[in-house]
Amino acid sequence: MKKAICTIAACALISATAASSAISINTALANPVTPDKVKIVNGEIKTPLTNKPGNAADGKNWFANRKLGNCLACHANQDMSSKPFHGEIGPAVNEVATRYSPAQLRAILVDAKSVFGDQTIMPGFYKLDTGERVAKKFKGKTILNGQQVEDIIAYLLTLKK
Ligand code: HEC
Repeated sequence: MKKAICTIAACALISATAASSAISINTALANPVTPDKVKIVNGEIKTPLTNKPGNAADGKNWFANRKLGNCLACHANQDMSSKPFHGEIGPAVNEVATRYSPAQLRAILVDAKSVFGDQTIMPGFYKLDTGERVAKKFKGKTILNGQQVEDIIAYLLTLKK
């Protein structure tokens, strides 16, 4: 701890700043690219959202998890043929890795509207403004965190055939 020489008011300010910067350092480690800092250029996000490489097995869980990605609600997926209720609102994700690069998949997941246009009903999963079809509890938050997005990308990249 730093011993600061200060008036009471200034000390309060210093410790408040110290506390908030500690928080932002922690978030920075987990999510180096916060949602407001993500740059989508030509339908691509080249830089991963986190330092930790995506885990395909975790990504597979998020894809099917009804409370998280819930991708299966809109996308049929051959790789999950044992699971019930595949939606058909979006295209099937079979062999999706042959159609998109990792940078393109990242942009689709982070902010589908930036790739497909405003009319898409696919939610922006790493965006603070997530669109009308998103439950109130998600407003002001992202649906997935950066690591979950990277995990799902890793999983989608396994869907080659
Ligand atoms: C509410 C429905 C909905 C949900 C939930 C949803 N998507 Fe989509 N997605 C769509 C639609 C619709 C499209 C087609 C783009 C358009 O709007 O024209 C699409 C397109 C895509 C594409 C491009 C597919 C292709 O072959 O062109 C990928 C990849 C994708 N979504 C992945 C996901 C993943 C991964 C999740 C879960 C994290 C997800 N989507 C959740 C509706 C959804």
